[in-house]
Amino acid sequence: MLNEISTLRSQIENELLTISSSESLEQFRLAHIVKKGTLTGLIERLRDVPKEDKPVIGKELNLLRVFAENEFARLKEQFESGKNQTQKIDVTLDGRRGKKGSIHPIMQTLDEILSVFRKMGFSVAESADLEDDYHNFEALNFAPDHPARDMQDTFFIKDERSDLLLRTHTSSVQIRLMQSQQPPIRSVMPGRVYRNEAVSARSLAEFHQVEGLCIDKNVTFAELKGTIITFAKEMYGSSSEFRFRPSYFPFTEPSAEVDISCYLCGGKGCRICKYSGWLEICGCGMVHPNVFKNCKIDTEIYSGYAFGFGIERVTMLRTGIDDIRLLYENDVRILEQF
Ligand code: PHE
Repeated sequence: MLNEISTLRSQIENELLTISSSESLEQFRLAHIVKKGTLTGLIERLRDVPKEDKPVIGKELNLLRVFAENEFARLKEQFESGKNQTQKIDVTLDGRRGKKGSIHPIMQTLDEILSVFRKMGFSVAESADLEDDYHNFEALNFAPDHPARDMQDTFFIKDERSDLLLRTHTSSVQIRLMQSQQPPIRSVMPGRVYRNEAVSARSLAEFHQVEGLCIDKNVTFAELKGTIITFAKEMYGSSSEFRFRPSYFPFTEPSAEVDISCYLCGGKGCRICKYSGWLEICGCGMVHPNVFKNCKIDTEIYSGYAFGFGIERVTMLRTGIDDIRLLYENDVRILEQF
C-alpha cells in the first residue's frame, strides 16, 4: 500500500505541474479530491490494513491528502485572482518612468556664475588640483615664514618632492595664467580646493571656488567694485545690498571683503548672520606689485584686480540650505528639490 501511495503522489505532483487553467484544475479535482476520487479510494482501503501498519500508512496517506488539497486551494485562488486582475487593467494609466538624474546644485550654481561672467567678457581658465608651493603660495607673495600661510591649513602630499600640496585656493591658476599669457587678461577660474579644516555646518575640508582676474591698462578699484556688484545683483537679485570692508590678503593691496545683506533676516540680525545682518561672500583686491613682478608683468603699464569666493556659500544663499554638509551627502531627497 505504501507503494501505491507513493505512485499516487508522483502522479499528483506531475499533474500539478501541468495545470494551467481552471479547466485543468477542475479535472484534477474530479480525479483526486472528490468523494469518488483516488484519495478517498485509498483512505477507504485503510480498513483492510493490518493494525500494526495503520499508523505509518495512515500518516502517509493523510500527508498526501493535505498536500493535494492545499495545492488545489492555492491554484484555485491563483486563477481566480488572475481573472480579477485582467478585469482591472486600466489601459489609460501612465507607464512607469525611470528616475531621471539631474545636475548637482553646486554645479548648477557654477554654470550660472560662469554664464554671468561670460556676459561680462570673462573667459574661463582651469588647472590641476595638485599644486606646488610656488604657485599656491610663493608667487602669490606669501613669504616662506609668512604668518598668512596659517590662514589656510594645507594638505601636503607625501612625495620625493616636499613642495607638493592640494591647492588651498584657485589663486594658483592666476599665477599660471599670468605666466603663460601677457595682458590683457580677463578670466574666471573655477575649481575644487582643499583645506585641513574641521568639518562643520559652515565649512568642509574640500569645497569649490571661483576666482577672477582682470589685468589691463588703467584698471581701477572702482572697476573691481562695479564688476562684483553687477555679478552679485545678477546672482542674488537687484534688491540685495552689499558692503566692502577693508581686509588683508598677501597677493592683493588694497584688499577687501564683500558682504551681502542677510537673506534670512534682511539685515535685522539672526542666527545665520550671527546677528550682524551681513554675510561674507567674497574676498578681493588690487593685484599686489610683488605678484606682478613674480610673473614678469610691467607694473608701470598694467594694473589689475582679483577676487575669489566659495561656490557652496553661493549655493546655500540661493537655496536656503543652512548646513553645507547636506550638499555632499548625496541624499536624493535633498538633491531632487533642485
Ligand atoms: N584666495 C582667497 C581665498 O581663498 C580669495 C581671494 C582671491 C582674495 C582673490 C583676494 C583676491 O580666500
